[in-house]
Amino acid sequence: MQTGSKLHDDRPGVSALGGLGAQARGASGRLLPEIWMQDGAKRVEQALARLLCAEDDGETELMAAMRYATLHGGKRTRTLLCLAAGALADTPAHMLDDVGAAIEMMHACTLVHDDLPAMDDDVLRRGLPTVHVKFGEATAILVGDALQAHAFLTLANVDAPGDNRIALVRELAQAVSAEGAAGGQAMDLSLVGKHVELDRIVAMHRMKSGALVRASVRMGALCAIAEDAAHAALYCALDRYSACFGLALQVVDDILDATADTATLGKTPGKDAAAQKPTCASIMGLQAARQFALDLLRDAEEAIAPLGPRAERLAQMLQRANAYLFKHAPCA
Ligand code: IPE
Ligand code: IPE
Ligand code: MG
Ligand code: MG
Ligand code: MG
Repeated sequence: MQTGSKLHDDRPGVSALGGLGAQARGASGRLLPEIWMQDGAKRVEQALARLLCAEDDGETELMAAMRYATLHGGKRTRTLLCLAAGALADTPAHMLDDVGAAIEMMHACTLVHDDLPAMDDDVLRRGLPTVHVKFGEATAILVGDALQAHAFLTLANVDAPGDNRIALVRELAQAVSAEGAAGGQAMDLSLVGKHVELDRIVAMHRMKSGALVRASVRMGALCAIAEDAAHAALYCALDRYSACFGLALQVVDDILDATADTATLGKTPGKDAAAQKPTCASIMGLQAARQFALDLLRDAEEAIAPLGPRAERLAQMLQRANAYLFKHAPCA
């Protein structure tokens, strides 16, 4: 374990320092993670409720379905990452509310489409019937389309300088492009029933889930700071951090799909095996996959070390992910 790490460690004799409740704002002035995370999630939900509402009195079924897809739960991980990076760049809070909402709209779009019968054919999401089960398949397709459009509309209206706004739009577009989530999802479907090497799965995970996580982190900073030579070190650290975080997120998702129950997941467990999807868990085995996720979180911690105390929220996001893994997938 590296000196100063705040992450749990499986090795005997190493104390578990992380977790959501482990910090207090004491004499050191350390930030309480549960306070800013709850506040951030609440603020983004308020922004979503404000941005996804009909201009006249008559709410259409499409808008009701869009609100259903975005306003009922979710861990808000991408929003919180955006806030954490935004704090590091001194991005104003009101800007982050709308950028966070745009990211959540895009994330929800990928989930609604991921659940469709033609994709993963899932009936449960965030503990509720999936959008196509509740509203019908055609509406679910349109919900994805419209959420994507509203995400870009929201960014186009963000109160940031013009160049920063364009950078935000570009960032989100790249994240869900053929080189990002859409391409990763296509790869996911093409690998069903196949035996593949781990590096193909890692490449797929980086695209289908990692790209939006990376964008979420970068967008928090891009609101206020250009990616120019003066800030190369900052973006380099954020890129390394988010690459590790995004991959760890999907590795943990793979593990929990194989090990957790419906109540924990809020989705149908065992879907990957039932659909013959190769995952990190199926290829490496559960324990190795778990160690892989822990190593990635540790690498992410290392990546932001040069940023010092300014990266406190990003470090706390790693502790949150680490605690989540220890809680829901304890070591066998
Ligand atoms: C689920 O993401 C899809 C993946 C990319 C693994 P999350 O686990 O962040 O889903 P919510 O937003 O908390 O429901
Ligand atoms: C989904 O991966 C990734 C995207 C939505 C882009 P999964 O198919 O594993 O996500 P869950 O398990 O349904 O949330
Ligand atoms: Mg899928
Ligand atoms: Mg799925
Ligand atoms: Mg999954």
